[in-house]
Amino acid sequence: MRAAITGWGRALPDCIVPNSYFEEIGLETTDAWISERTGIRERRVAGEGESTATLAAAAASDAIKSAGLTPDAIGLFAMATTTPEQPIPHTGAIVSDSLGLRCASFDLNTACAGFIYGLVIAQSLMAAGGLDRALVVGSETMSRDLDPRDRGTVILFGDGAGAVVLERSDDDSAEGVGILGWDLGCDGSAAGLLELSGGGSKLPLTAEVLESGAQWLTMAGQEVFRRAVRAVQDSANLAMERAGVTSAGIDWFVPHQANTRIIESACNRLHIPMERTVVNLDRYGNTSAASIPIALSEAVDDGRIKDGDVILMTGFGAGMTWGSVVLRWGRP
Ligand code: UT7
Repeated sequence: MRAAITGWGRALPDCIVPNSYFEEIGLETTDAWISERTGIRERRVAGEGESTATLAAAAASDAIKSAGLTPDAIGLFAMATTTPEQPIPHTGAIVSDSLGLRCASFDLNTACAGFIYGLVIAQSLMAAGGLDRALVVGSETMSRDLDPRDRGTVILFGDGAGAVVLERSDDDSAEGVGILGWDLGCDGSAAGLLELSGGGSKLPLTAEVLESGAQWLTMAGQEVFRRAVRAVQDSANLAMERAGVTSAGIDWFVPHQANTRIIESACNRLHIPMERTVVNLDRYGNTSAASIPIALSEAVDDGRIKDGDVILMTGFGAGMTWGSVVLRWGRP
């Protein structure tokens, strides 16, 4: 079997923070630097009462409605987040309660590759368990983990959620819809390049740990950049090979939205024109596991992605993790 996307949704906080805000609060940066070096112009930031679970539930509810379903039809729920609602229980449990789900649910923390991991795991469990439908959500409140004084991270990330419903397709012919090929990977030797070390088992939060700033995300930007371009190229090529397509056969490329220069370099190496690439990071910044499903749902809603199109999605992030999925769009 294959899993096809039949519903989609997204949720973004109302609060818009433009680049100029960081200048205004006295951070040593400029709107020009941020937009030239990253492509980001503004991002959304969760306000009071908004959290990873509330954004996830809003996006998931829209996805279930757009699939023409009610929550009782969902047989599995994969929740991708690197900014969980709280340590225990997993965020999926809290979102399940908001939606009225009673199926299996679990969290996935593979950072910006989380949504891609979620798609692949959900398809595999649907096949193994004979399930007809699954919900996959990527939701993040990155703003809560950023050091407001660190210009290397605070300007990059934003908050939001995206969700899809997967449904079983038994047509595995060349023209059939659903996931055609995928690749997942992780190089843990690069874990220290992008991390938040405080608040876990190794460094429980104490006054000293908070004083040291270990509760904030840190990133070696240049090295992450270098590895990201290589990971996108290698992973996308593997997924396309397994799907039996070349880049000429990709109608839309939906990459993780981290930096326009990373996306442009990857497109050059993959021979995919920017005109066939979905980019929205100018408005949302890097929303980690949420970035691909947000970009995907926008491109479907505005009519760019149509039935029969072949879509390539690639994510990469902390771990370092990466993942790609090639999928033919349409209902089974
Ligand atoms: O989704 C997870 C994966 N994350 C990513 O993919 C992020 C990957 N990395 C990046 O996007 C880029 O590396 C950054 C946007 C983080 C940084 O851009 P860069 O072109 O790699 O800059 P850099 O770190 O090489 O720094 C260039 C200069 C430095 O100054 P000097 O040493 O040349 O005087 C930095 O101190 O820019 C300076 N700089 C800034 N200046 C103004 C660094 N951040 C800023 C800033 N505003 N916000």
